[in-house]
Amino acid sequence: MGEIVMAQFRPFEMDSIPIEEQFMNWKEIVQPSYDKKSVDAYTRTRVILMNGIESASILMSHAMERMIEEPEIKRKMAAIRRVDSMQQQTVDWLNPANQSVIETTLGYEQVAVDLTANLAKNEPDPYVKQTLDFALLEDFDHLYRYSCLYDYLEGGDPEFIVQGKTEVKPGRPTVGHHRHPDDNMRKHYDKDTADIKTKMNYLTIVAGEQQTELFYKTHGNMYSDELARQLYSEIADVEEEHVTQYGLLGDPRETMLEKAALMQLCEAYIYFSCAQTETDPRIKAIWENFAKMEIAHFEGCAHLIEKYEGRDIRDVVKADVIEPLVVFEPNKEYVNKVIDEQLDIMPDGMEYKRLSEMADTWSSFKFQWKVNSAGVPSEEVVGKASSELAQRDQAKNIQQFKNQLSERTESIMSSQRGRAMPPL
Ligand SMILES: [Fe+2]
Ligand SMILES: [Fe+2]
Ligand SMILES: [Fe+2]
Ligand SMILES: [Fe+2]
Repeated sequence: MGEIVMAQFRPFEMDSIPIEEQFMNWKEIVQPSYDKKSVDAYTRTRVILMNGIESASILMSHAMERMIEEPEIKRKMAAIRRVDSMQQQTVDWLNPANQSVIETTLGYEQVAVDLTANLAKNEPDPYVKQTLDFALLEDFDHLYRYSCLYDYLEGGDPEFIVQGKTEVKPGRPTVGHHRHPDDNMRKHYDKDTADIKTKMNYLTIVAGEQQTELFYKTHGNMYSDELARQLYSEIADVEEEHVTQYGLLGDPRETMLEKAALMQLCEAYIYFSCAQTETDPRIKAIWENFAKMEIAHFEGCAHLIEKYEGRDIRDVVKADVIEPLVVFEPNKEYVNKVIDEQLDIMPDGMEYKRLSEMADTWSSFKFQWKVNSAGVPSEEVVGKASSELAQRDQAKNIQQFKNQLSERTESIMSSQRGRAMPPL
C-alpha cells in the first residue's frame, strides 16, 4: 500500500450538521458489527478508541452538569451529550458478539501501544512526551501478559488479533508498575502556552486509558477462572494509575466551558483522523458523518464561551490546523528504542529517574512490597502459557529489571524486619 495523502484537519472550515438533525432512530444507532475474522486490526483499534473518546466526552459532561448553574448551558450540554451517547452506542456496537472478552482486551492494549507511540512521536511538550513514553512500556507489557492469558484460557494466538502489526513480548514488567499514589503525581501543561496538539493528545490519551480501566473493571468478573479474575484486577489497578497520571497533565485553570469545547474539538479531530485512514468503506462513512456532528458540538461550546465568558474560541485554539493526524500504524522500531533506553525509568514524585537512582525512601518500594506480597498474577500467568510465549519473558533485559527491583525491595524491607509495615 502506498503512502496515503491525508487531508488536513481545519476545524473552522469544516461542514457541520445542525444538532437537532443529529438524533438517530434505534435502527440507525445500531449498525452491523464487523467480522472478527476479516477485520483489519487497526479498524478494531479505531472502534475501541472512538468508543473511549465518546465515553470520556459523556463522563466529563456529566461531571460538569453537576457544577454548572446556568440553565442554558446545562440544556445545551445535555443536547450535545445525548448525541455523543447515541454515537457511542453506534461505535461500541460495532464490536461483534463472538469476539471474546480476552480478544477485545488484546485489542484494547494494541490501541494503548500504537496510540501512545503515535502521540509520543508527535508530542511537542518534552514532559508530556516523557509521560507517554513511560506508560507506553507498561501497556506494551500488558499486551504480553494478556496474550499469555489468551493462550491459557482459549488456546488463542495473539497474532489473530494484532496481525503482526504490534509486537507481543514483555515491556517493563507489570510486577513493577504498582506505584504508591504519590509517584503518580504529574505536572500540568500551561493552558496559555501549550500547543493545541498537546491539549488534543492529553484528552485523547486520558479517554483511551479511562475506557480501558472501565472495560477491565466491568469484564474481569465475567471469568470464573481465578487467575483470569486476578489478572484483570491487577491490570485494572495499573490503568487507574495511568488515568491518574495522564489526567493530571491537564491545566486545571482552564474553565469548564473551555474543557468542554476542547473535548468536542478532540472528538472531531480523532473522528476526522480515523476517516482519513479507515480501510472499511462502511465504517469510514460513520467516521465522516460523526466528525461533522462533532464540529457542531464544538461550535455549540464556542458560542457558550463567547456568551458567558466573552472570549473568542480562536483565542483558545490559537491554530487553524491541528496536525499531524492521529494514525494507527506499526511502531515496532519506536517501541524497541524506548525499551532499550527507558525500561528502568520510574517516577519519583513528579520527576522521572532511573531505578538505580531511587532512594530507599521511595514510596513505591513499600507499596510494591505490600501489593505483591501474596503472589503476582501477571507473573503467574506466564507459567500457564505455551513455552514459546513464556520463553519471551526470559529475555535478559526483562530478567535484569525484575532482579534489580526485587533485590532492592527485599533489602529495604528486610532492614525493617520486626517492625510493622512502615507508614505509607
Ligand atoms: Fe461524540
Ligand atoms: Fe494497559
Ligand atoms: Fe494503560
Ligand atoms: Fe461530541
